[in-house]
Amino acid sequence: MSQTFDVVVIGGGPGGYIAAIRAAQLGFKVACIDEWKNAAGGPAPGGTCTNVGCIPSKALLQSSEHFDHANHHFAHHGISATNVKIDIAKMIGRKDTVVKQNNDGILYLFKKNKISFFHGRGSFAKAVDAGYEIQVTGATEELLTARQIIVATGSNARALPGTPFDEETVLSNDGALRLGAVPKKMVLIGSGVIGLEMGSVWRRLGSDVTILEGLPTFLGAVDEQIAKEAKKAFDKQGLKIELGVKVGEIKTTKKGVSVAYTNAKGEAQSLDADKLIVSIGRVPNTIGLNAEAVGLQLDERGAIVVDAECRTSLKGVWAVGDVVRGPMLAHKAEEEGVAVAERIAGQHGHVNFNTIPWVIYTSPEIAWVGETEQQLKARGAAYKAGTFPFLANGRARALGDTTGMVKFLADAATDEILGVHIVGPQASELIAEAVVAMEFKASSEDIARICHAHPSLSEAMKEAALAVDKRTLNF
Ligand code: FAD
Ligand code: NAI
Repeated sequence: MSQTFDVVVIGGGPGGYIAAIRAAQLGFKVACIDEWKNAAGGPAPGGTCTNVGCIPSKALLQSSEHFDHANHHFAHHGISATNVKIDIAKMIGRKDTVVKQNNDGILYLFKKNKISFFHGRGSFAKAVDAGYEIQVTGATEELLTARQIIVATGSNARALPGTPFDEETVLSNDGALRLGAVPKKMVLIGSGVIGLEMGSVWRRLGSDVTILEGLPTFLGAVDEQIAKEAKKAFDKQGLKIELGVKVGEIKTTKKGVSVAYTNAKGEAQSLDADKLIVSIGRVPNTIGLNAEAVGLQLDERGAIVVDAECRTSLKGVWAVGDVVRGPMLAHKAEEEGVAVAERIAGQHGHVNFNTIPWVIYTSPEIAWVGETEQQLKARGAAYKAGTFPFLANGRARALGDTTGMVKFLADAATDEILGVHIVGPQASELIAEAVVAMEFKASSEDIARICHAHPSLSEAMKEAALAVDKRTLNF
């Protein structure tokens, strides 16, 4: 006997659990299946984001930043903190508690919204007159039927060919977030988002960190001026980043790992380290979904093929988040989940891909929305740029963190904001103003004319907007 629902969501990460909540709010009978297990084997919904991604990485970034401040920045404020120690087990334990609070929060939200949660793996069994049969296996064994299926099965870390993750020495994001001690030496491959965030955590805690990056440019997707400023700050911190390398043989030894590579000059090099983190991107995950049973179309990367509105090749089957095209970001997955639930209800769900913010939670933080200066140049756009350094912002001086700047890019003719790029303190929070402005098609003058609280970092947003018209007040 199968249980029948209006909507079955496979995957309980940010794409899936948010889609389930929105569908329930819209009056549908909803089930959500998620297979993630906590250490005790119990359910741990929230996906990569909650368990081994956004949340635990931010918890460790926070802890390690406190440690770094105590060691290097308190003294500027006249506070002496000598013999500062870290208890890694406690730090990791706190991170685990934060993760569990989020897992429990999602289980509570399922109950509150009367969503039936199934702990196990969901696979397509077959198409039937009433829609699709989904087999749940694992902790729960059930057959579910629904006319509407939302696939939100996320992504997995990509391994280097021939070097599988053992999570002891060769680590993905999973192992990188639960080390038992600070490695003396650490190598990371890939200076993307994970490389920089995880590299920052372990460097702050005392590890000698080297990041090997294949591309010759640092953070190629980031506005060049912002990336350059960030690189300067990372260099100063002692985060070693080698660009333009070609990684060769990787050997795990009794003591750790040895990484052979060719540097940008073509010279053969090798690095020995206690731990290696491989952060070279992620691959869409359809393992165990049994997509073949119903003929669900995948592309050459293994992503589920969807149209602009997340419709797959099959009627009534939708897919959202990391398992489909587009940026692999939790908030992008959530927006798609909400939009799909609304489309199922006959509403006009909408995701604006032009205003999805990006944040890298390093110190300084890097955040942006919209086009970079190099993208504007490449498409021959006529634009005006305005920048404002945090050095000239009173709140930043009071905080003791004046690294970086805010940069506005606006259309030369209409003054519409085309992109906002920030490197500096609280960039992750500041970017929200730019997203709102761009959603409302604001001009840089709109931001320049809005009253911003003093003293606040947000004044740097106003000043950068003023800079577009060459009329900053404080610089
Ligand atoms: P996922 O979160 O991967 O969830 C998919 C879920 O589906 C998982 O629980 C999985 O177990 C389950 N599942 C898979 N197959 C099945 C099946 N057949 N049956 C049942 N369950 C199944 N993004 C940000 O926006 N901000 C950040 O700060 C950020 N930090 C990150 C840090 C790290 C270290 C990593 C790795 C990622 C980070 N991301 C961040 C990216 C973010 O985690 C992903 O974009 C997001 O989790 C994608 O959500 P999703 O719902 O598509 O998939
Ligand atoms: P990434 O795509 O951000 O960076 C991967 C880097 O590895 C790139 O710079 C790439 O050039 C390099 N690379 C690829 N192959 C290589 C090789 N063989 N040798 C050397 N360098 C190589 O991927 P990452 O850091 O693994 O993160 C995956 C995704 O997770 C991100 O794209 C992002 O979507 C998400 N994420 C988001 C975060 C956030 O929003 N703050 C934090 C962490 C992850």
